[in-house]
Amino acid sequence: MHHETLDQAARGILRDNDRGRYTVPTAMLYPFQWNWDSAFAAWGFSRFDVERAWTELETLMAAQWPNGMVPHMIFHEPAPGYFPGPEVWGVGNQPPTSGITQPPVVATMARAVLMADPDRGRPRIAGLFDGLLRWHRWFMDARVERGMVAVTHPWETGRDNAPDWDLAMQAVDTSGVGSYQRRDLQQVDAGQRPKKAEYDRYLAMVGFGRDCGWDEATIRDRGPFRVADVGMSFILLRACRDLAVLAQEVGKPTREIEDWIRALTEGAEGHWNPDGGYYDSVDLRSGAFTGSLSNASFLNWYAGIENPGMLAHLHRIADEVRFMLPSLDPAHPEFDPLRYWRGPVWAILNALAGLGLAEMGHGAEAARLRRDAQALIAASGFAEYFSPRDGTPAGGGHFTWTAAVWLAWASPQAEGRF
Ligand code: GLC
Repeated sequence: MHHETLDQAARGILRDNDRGRYTVPTAMLYPFQWNWDSAFAAWGFSRFDVERAWTELETLMAAQWPNGMVPHMIFHEPAPGYFPGPEVWGVGNQPPTSGITQPPVVATMARAVLMADPDRGRPRIAGLFDGLLRWHRWFMDARVERGMVAVTHPWETGRDNAPDWDLAMQAVDTSGVGSYQRRDLQQVDAGQRPKKAEYDRYLAMVGFGRDCGWDEATIRDRGPFRVADVGMSFILLRACRDLAVLAQEVGKPTREIEDWIRALTEGAEGHWNPDGGYYDSVDLRSGAFTGSLSNASFLNWYAGIENPGMLAHLHRIADEVRFMLPSLDPAHPEFDPLRYWRGPVWAILNALAGLGLAEMGHGAEAARLRRDAQALIAASGFAEYFSPRDGTPAGGGHFTWTAAVWLAWASPQAEGRF
């Protein structure tokens, strides 16, 4: 298919999923606003409607909590039957939100939206900057340990069922969870979604947060789950670099942000698993590496960190799969090409890893990630994720972030840059 047709289809998806001031990831499966999905949506909108891109980010940041946290879901409209809905999270805000956060790509995408039209963007970023600074400060104060970002629930990482969380999740007590009905299984084949035992544990972790009123100190000291996610650490580091640029744009000091960049750069070394020779997540309760080489491990370049060992892993995996970048090393025993974050290719991760590779001089590798994203979308449409083996589209269709990444990065007119 010609790329102009795909560009048009991608714009159509963003328009279809647009609910006025926010965009849903896809209509039936995810009927609310999600944090990092919205940041990607803004990046996509910036290619044909910059005003709408800023509105997306403004709606998200308006849901920021008083403590600075920006929630991972905002329940703007009731969607009866959605599970776990606002009553399960037990957060009293209006509109209701979840009680956890998601990967902070907003500062990075805001910078991209600003670059798309600096004159129009300047007043809008001036309005968003303080909120972004407070969100990053919340991360640094409440979540950064030994220079790494701790997550309190796998859903915070955006890589919901990645094997990174398997061992740490074993300790989660599910005795109080009770019976419930999932909504995802009514629409997507069970083989492409997390299993029931995992889901029970997700709900037990939500229950712990709700029962302590989402108190960060209680969750830190007694919460059932605390893992330093390699993806969050690299994404926050990168976002701080972009936030420093935005600070200069709006004439604010950068000193505090520079300190964060230093702390996170040093902390990144704590993610280096010397046995596997790759960047890995760390269970902060046990101190053990999680033993998972994932697509998030390859965000080191995106974070501004060079590493020859990671490049060697990238080349090895590139020889093994037809489509890059699988969400799990195919050599991992849990690799499953169609199960969500345990194998499939996610176009957004190709984009982030690809941006970093290109910026740090690895043009050929960046081109492969982009070419494969193009081929997958051209052959199989704007799916939620794809098999790295044969390109089978999976999960939800008509997907906002896949369309957004097409417009902003993968499409031939986008040139693979910011
Ligand atoms: C799933 C994904 C998460 C995403 C959400 C909405 O939960 O794992 O990363 O934000 O769907 O698309």
